[in-house]
Amino acid sequence: MRTQLFQDIVTSTILPLATKRIQRNHQIYAGKFPSYGDGDKQYLLRPNENWLASFWAGLLWLVYVQTNEEQDLQHVLDLLPSFEDRLDKRIRLNHDLGFIFTLSARVAHQFTGDESAKSLALRASEVLYQRINPIGQYIQAWGDKDDADEAGRIIIDCMMNLPLLFWAHMQTGNKKYYEGAVAHARISQQYLMREDNSSYHTYFLDPNNGNPINAKTHQGYADDSLWARGQGWAIYGFTMAAEWTHDDSFLETAKGAVERYFAEAPITDIAPYDLRLPEEAPVYPDSSADAIVASSLLRLADLTGETAYRDKAEALLVMLYDKAFDKRDDAQGLLLHGTQHTPHNYGIDTYTIFGDYFFLEGLMRLTGIAPDFWGNHKKD
Ligand code: GLY
Repeated sequence: MRTQLFQDIVTSTILPLATKRIQRNHQIYAGKFPSYGDGDKQYLLRPNENWLASFWAGLLWLVYVQTNEEQDLQHVLDLLPSFEDRLDKRIRLNHDLGFIFTLSARVAHQFTGDESAKSLALRASEVLYQRINPIGQYIQAWGDKDDADEAGRIIIDCMMNLPLLFWAHMQTGNKKYYEGAVAHARISQQYLMREDNSSYHTYFLDPNNGNPINAKTHQGYADDSLWARGQGWAIYGFTMAAEWTHDDSFLETAKGAVERYFAEAPITDIAPYDLRLPEEAPVYPDSSADAIVASSLLRLADLTGETAYRDKAEALLVMLYDKAFDKRDDAQGLLLHGTQHTPHNYGIDTYTIFGDYFFLEGLMRLTGIAPDFWGNHKKD
């Protein structure tokens, strides 16, 4: 009952409203990239220089899927030169190449068949592949290869960068991309996932022999706490690894991570940015974590045939619509109450562009019209 009602609201109200809002934002942003909320009702705009840039492209693709209008396609294609420039000039590139070039170049090739978009995505895949430590068989998250402080660091977010390597394997037949992605997923499973299916944000390995050293948080409350969005990346990332490889152990990791998430984050409220906060710590909400989890649960439901995942996804999306969707006509963002980086104190309790992206992706998946940007899209 509730299901049909909510899906009708999504189709008749939320999707058209989101589309109009994103189209209006496109006029305002004029080639710049929204990152996180800045004051009331608006986004902070940045050049194409961080991991957030591609989510704006992703939102424009989601609009195009709905309208099928040539001008909406052109809006996102117009952004591609800035991604090419970024790769050419190596502007702040790290393991997030997967995020950055999936929702830009890979998807452009998916929709248009354009060979130059494909070649850009493949070039980005190769740069990502080159970040693999050959001894430890993991993708170095941050810093240059010769950065001694960062050479051994892996992070849970990187699970979402692996689909670009899987895609590169599919496109080229070169097994190194597949094997590199699988190796990194196994190392992440071994060291970033704890016994209780919760995740560390980051973990240091010895770059000279791959031996484990210690866990360290970056955006969570503490090294041994549970950064909510990181758990979301674990759920979505291992679900994708399972989709691409059909490896049951990745599926089990994703399912375990879901159980852990709901054991510590009640479905009826926006998750706090960290699920293991001590009483005295300030509690900032992170709607983006719930949006990431909701969208990945719908994939997990398709992958496993278990409808309980779909029910949970819908409950999360309903909760987000009720408690976080910005219903003001002149608002730029979709979801309020996201948190970008608590320890560095920016983007706190506000819009996050990735929260908007995964919320819209989740709503479209719920109503059966979501494209497949992270998996093995049949039309590729
Ligand atoms: N990938 C960085 C973050 O989730 O904030």
